[in-house]
Amino acid sequence: MKKNILIVPGDGIGQEVTEVGKNVLIKIAEKFGHEFSYDDALMGHVAIEATGNPLPDETLTKMRASDAILFGAVGHPKYDNDPTAKVRPEQGLLRMRKELGLYANLRPIKLFDELLGASSIKPEILKGSDILFFRELTGDIYFGEKGRKNDNNTAYDIAEYSRYEVERIGRKAFEAARTRSKKLCSVDKANVLETSRLWREVIQALAPEYPDIQVEHQFVDSAAMMLIKDPRRFDVVVTANLFGDILTDEASQIAGSMGMLASASIGDSTGVYEPIHGSAHDITGKGIANPLASVLSAALLLDISFGLKEESDAIIAAVDKLLKDGFRTRDIADSTTAADKLLNTETAGIELLKRI
Ligand code: NAD
Ligand code: IPM
Ligand code: MN
Repeated sequence: MKKNILIVPGDGIGQEVTEVGKNVLIKIAEKFGHEFSYDDALMGHVAIEATGNPLPDETLTKMRASDAILFGAVGHPKYDNDPTAKVRPEQGLLRMRKELGLYANLRPIKLFDELLGASSIKPEILKGSDILFFRELTGDIYFGEKGRKNDNNTAYDIAEYSRYEVERIGRKAFEAARTRSKKLCSVDKANVLETSRLWREVIQALAPEYPDIQVEHQFVDSAAMMLIKDPRRFDVVVTANLFGDILTDEASQIAGSMGMLASASIGDSTGVYEPIHGSAHDITGKGIANPLASVLSAALLLDISFGLKEESDAIIAAVDKLLKDGFRTRDIADSTTAADKLLNTETAGIELLKRI
């Protein structure tokens, strides 16, 4: 298969982990006889430094022309610590999602058995957890009108959803539930928010079209609690942009670390595959970031954008083998991890390639 893949490392550890993700794609192409070509592009802080724009036109043009995008992360302490900055790396990310129509963000929370001890949650609560989040990605409070008033003394962000926006992400989640355990949990705050009441109304209206799916509605505060109390009660979860952002960082602890969670953003055109974590300034440059979220994002890319299930499974199997062989980066290591099995980003990449 001939495909062109755009690599957008972004900032901080995005650059470190995406290199490993790319190397895995190169190895897979070699092993399975595919012709993947690669180009790269700037986004985030590095793009602001080079062009003044977090998502330069050149990057967007390359994105539209590619068959799939492997993305790292954006962000820099310079902006995090300056709430008045007008141009920010994250604006590039949000604009990319909007421009490419990436309304569905799939975030699988899959616990590798070998990492049962890596989480702060008890193993007997965790074992067998496997959740697929559908986070709506181009609406909600992220994209509504925002601003200041009262002489800069009041700020507002408007949350907005249309029926159409809820319906299209809802359908994706119902369809996914069909291929899994036929259970769907829709998470909202319909006891308070009007957007959530519309959300619940739309999901309820869709339900009769999927009579084989058992639908449950849960409030976000209680869902946040239940995720930790009893993660196995969840299978497919569908929720709004902001709730999905927060719940999936929380759910990363079910999988052991933020460094293990991949995501797929899909919609109207080219799919974007990225770890759910950010640019992690606290560990940037130390070479210790866990690259597996990027590697697993590459696996999602092959499966979802190219339909290469066998190749995707080969990556997941290699990750499983790496962990079974006792190798760990620091974020997933514990007291039983042998010193010679402790990996940094680069050695994790090397060990992984040997197992593909
Ligand atoms: P973060 O996800 O970058 O880091 C949170 C914590 O998890 C940190 O302690 C970090 O060291 C750890 N961590 C994250 N990824 C890891 C990995 N692969 N291996 C080991 N440890 C890992 O979140 P943050 O610190 O709140 O945000 C930092 C910056 O990233 C901010 O500027 C934020 O806006 C940005 N951000 C970007 C994205 C994105 O581009 N998709 C996502 C989240 C945050
Ligand atoms: C994510 C991030 C982004 C989000 C930020 C950086 C805009 O946290 O991809 O999860 O909130 O969507
Ligand atoms: Mn997030």
